[in-house]
Amino acid sequence: MQQQPLPSLVERSPSMTGAEIAESLIPPRQFEQATLENYEPDPDYPSQARAVEKVRAFAAGWQAPRGLFSRRPPETKPGLYLDGGFGVGKTHLLAALWKLAPGRTYFGTFIEYTALVGALGYAPTLKLLSGASFVAIDEFELDDPGDTMMMTRLLGELASGGTRMAATSNTPPNALGEGRFAAVDFLREIQGLSDQFDIVKIDGLDYRHRDVESHAVALDPAGYATAIAEAAGQGAVTADPFDAILKHLATVHPSRYVKLVEGLVAVGIEGVKVLHDQTDALRFVALVDRLYDEQVRVIASGVPLDRVFGDEMLAGGYRKKYLRAISRLIALTSPEPL
Ligand SMILES: Nc1ncnc2c1ncn2[C@@H]1O[C@H](COP(=O)(O)OP(=O)(O)OP(=O)(O)O)[C@@H](O)[C@H]1O
Ligand SMILES: [Mg+2]
Repeated sequence: MQQQPLPSLVERSPSMTGAEIAESLIPPRQFEQATLENYEPDPDYPSQARAVEKVRAFAAGWQAPRGLFSRRPPETKPGLYLDGGFGVGKTHLLAALWKLAPGRTYFGTFIEYTALVGALGYAPTLKLLSGASFVAIDEFELDDPGDTMMMTRLLGELASGGTRMAATSNTPPNALGEGRFAAVDFLREIQGLSDQFDIVKIDGLDYRHRDVESHAVALDPAGYATAIAEAAGQGAVTADPFDAILKHLATVHPSRYVKLVEGLVAVGIEGVKVLHDQTDALRFVALVDRLYDEQVRVIASGVPLDRVFGDEMLAGGYRKKYLRAISRLIALTSPEPL
């Protein structure tokens, strides 16, 4: 039997209409099962158990008043901001909260909402989202003042119509210190909307590696070929040289990377090299985020992916983004079930 050539990631050139983006505003596959009950607070970090309680209290705001004389829940703000380091379960809790919201709800990353505004325009987006009971914004980007201002305005208008919301964020470039907690930056960037958000701080270890000190798996050429063939037995797999992937990423808008990886069980990346170009590195981070959300395994050869970002990148303003991508790459290259 003649062997079929493997499909290639770089041959996928997705486009998405506004309607398709709106339809995709639900939690990614990785968080389909996330609930408050299956979030296991780490006893060493009491803020985790407190965070669950705060999320539960926020959700209680949706319950109808029980009777004339029942005590009303204390007034809560319309917004909740989940703040913490990598892998402490912010997105897990956000998805769990989304599930508790009644009626029409939306869940997306900041990039997805800006892509929606880009595709539909501001006013139609506002009209579409208006009247929702809950809007979740994961990974609020603080890097681009224009986008931040636009989202702040959108959320302000939604909140005045009675929509409640919750968010998580990245840190802006060159934030002071390690930026373990981003709330200060978030509140500063959203200015007029800051008094609408209650802050929930969650500290702790990266849940993805609570047990082991891990590294990203890099295979030799033979191991790479075997792993790709094995994965191809389980579903759709692509295989491409690292350089070709970077080149292709430059031609696709990051909001559409989600379509690029849709339906794949694994992505092969051959001949990983250390990145020294920041634009390439940030695009690669955006791809890693979508792979992680969709739980697409990464099979790689060359430099181990936990060392893909050059030292000068890790020392620069986007350090936190790179560190988180490394944490995700360690999980995605692990041969253990994701
Ligand atoms: N305390 C916990 N109990 C159970 N599962 C958890 C817990 N914390 C995290 N997880 C799981 O670990 C994974 C990573 O968590 P999650 O992605 O929610 O973290 P995060 O804080 O959003 O990280 P990131 O900074 O990468 O966005 C998810 O699969 C999540 O369901
Ligand atoms: Mg997250």
